[in-house]
Amino acid sequence: MHHPDAPLQLDAERPLPRHIAIIMDGNGRWARQRGLPRHAGHREGVKAVRSAVEQCRLLGVEVLTLFAFSSENWKRPQQEVGLLMELFMSALRKEVRRLRRNGIRLRVIGERSAFGPRLQQQMVEAERATAAAEGMILQVAANYGGRWDIVQAARQLAVALAAGELRAEQLDEARLGAALSFADLPNPDLLIRTGGEQRISNFMLWQAAYSELYFTSILWPDFDQAALLAAVVDFQQRQRRFGLTGEQVVSASSLSDGGGGQ
Ligand code: IPE
Ligand code: IPE
Ligand code: MG
Repeated sequence: MHHPDAPLQLDAERPLPRHIAIIMDGNGRWARQRGLPRHAGHREGVKAVRSAVEQCRLLGVEVLTLFAFSSENWKRPQQEVGLLMELFMSALRKEVRRLRRNGIRLRVIGERSAFGPRLQQQMVEAERATAAAEGMILQVAANYGGRWDIVQAARQLAVALAAGELRAEQLDEARLGAALSFADLPNPDLLIRTGGEQRISNFMLWQAAYSELYFTSILWPDFDQAALLAAVVDFQQRQRRFGLTGEQVVSASSLSDGGGGQ
């Protein structure tokens, strides 16, 4: 635990998370507390996104994944879903230049076919426009669900099996992992959830197997750079053991949870 009076400081001796994933929760409550409609909270949340992206880039984080819309969020009132889609559209359109300028490559993960054709097109264009960037990767999880991800991977393997390209005995963690979304990237080292709930809500079920979990009651629109720094400082103070003993970890130089395909 961090001492409450000590200034928040990164430890230059300890590794930073290579991949940070964030469940951005609490927009609705943020708005309600101010007597505003829920969408005002989503709108305000876009500013927190901008701030987190900028800070992660400056920290040298390799991948930032933001959970923007879950496969279950379709069940919300139609008006709220519609406003979220509009917000995606305008954010993709407006942010591309900033992303390019900062060398950030955008990727959208999730079942995209459920979105309207214009939004799908906007996603393709934003990805294309930032494809050459060599800095941080920003993944936006939209209509993403951890169960969906495992099912889509299983379906790919079933097709390979039926085609005789894969035998059942060959199926192992590496093969299933390689068929998941973003198998080419490291698994999240640090998984943050804002808004006070302590649950995964069907986010990365497979890839977060060894993520360090960090829950904060701060509502997403209030999640500022000090709050993100606090999460990273907390992460640096953890000992990741991956099933080993603490002593084994101390004698090993560095440990990390590699990509989904490993
Ligand atoms: C998270 O904030 C954003 C999305 C799920 C799209 P919420 O809208 O869930 O906010 P709360 O949890 O109702 O406060
Ligand atoms: C999780 O938040 C999904 C996103 C942040 C996009 P929810 O607000 O949908 O989660 P629950 O319903 O409280 O579990
Ligand atoms: Mg919520």
